[in-house]
Amino acid sequence: MDSKITEELQDTAPGLSRAVELLVQGQTVAFPTETVYGLGADARNDMAVARIFAAKDRPRFNPLIVHVANVQAAQKLVTFNSAATRLATAFWPGSLTLVLPLKPQSDISHLVSAGLATLAVRVPAHPLAEKLLLAFGGPVAAPSANLSGSISPTRARHVMAGLNTRIAAVLNGGSCPVGLESTIIGFDPAPMLLRPGGLPSEVIESCIGDALLAAPRLETPNAPGQLGSHYAPKTALRLNATDRKAGEVLLGFGPSEFAAMDSDLNLSASGDLTEAAANLFRHLHELDARGAATIAVCPIPAHGLGRAINDRLMRAAAPRP
Ligand code: TXA
Ligand code: MG
Repeated sequence: MDSKITEELQDTAPGLSRAVELLVQGQTVAFPTETVYGLGADARNDMAVARIFAAKDRPRFNPLIVHVANVQAAQKLVTFNSAATRLATAFWPGSLTLVLPLKPQSDISHLVSAGLATLAVRVPAHPLAEKLLLAFGGPVAAPSANLSGSISPTRARHVMAGLNTRIAAVLNGGSCPVGLESTIIGFDPAPMLLRPGGLPSEVIESCIGDALLAAPRLETPNAPGQLGSHYAPKTALRLNATDRKAGEVLLGFGPSEFAAMDSDLNLSASGDLTEAAANLFRHLHELDARGAATIAVCPIPAHGLGRAINDRLMRAAAPRP
């Protein structure tokens, strides 16, 4: 996280090119959409995406929405079905997010989708967001640009009130006309309302000619490992490991002799929590694929992004139904 003053950029050619330059450098830039201000970073860059979570002080790694300039750009990232194509044609650009299967060849950071095989994508309708996405030319991951637990910002000064010095820049595009987050639709197994939002569900239903399914209600959504929409490795996990037992692969953290010598992969050899977050899902996927009996994980400090990392690891380690 930066502790420099956040740059306030205007809707001008120099403002836009500075915003693009910062995104290319892997920095975080808040930008207006028609719904709320998003906190954007290059969705292909693990460290850039980790900086979003650090800036927001999020206690959990929720999957993020990826913003692109048009349907063609979305088609490079996810596989559309016919209902999704119909909705994108009718409502993009606009306050609609589609959750679709991630194409395996896409280079989206595992941290964006929190390790899931699906990706949330949308084409925002704000002219400045469109200009930024076209000029950057790549996918931008962006949750709302506020501290975790605070209300979503609809003006640049709301962003500054919460995130000044925590993000590289905010691009000022005035107030957000919708003021409510996008409506999120999933398709597994049929069109389903995952989050009500700026686009009314009735309008969506009349477009697809069918009622939307309700999102399944999770009985104990906060119980570790119970969240159906969360990635869990197939391999068992053993947390806070200070030794390595037979048949285990070791996910290390930090510069200790044990982590440095014995790890199969290290989340951050220097003990940097932002780097560890950037590597978390990729390393879990890679160790999972090795087919060991257990993934042992070194202790992770419980401050800053360490909380979100530990939350994710505890869910992954919890008994499965
Ligand atoms: O209007 C909006 O959607 C704003 C602006 C900035 O575009 N963005 C936004 O992002 O609200 P965020 O990160 O606050 O909300 C993302 C939500 C997550 O809470 C998650 O539930 C859902 O999208 N989501 C993302 N990826 C998903 C996936 N693969 N499967 C299911 N849900 C997903
Ligand atoms: Mg939010």
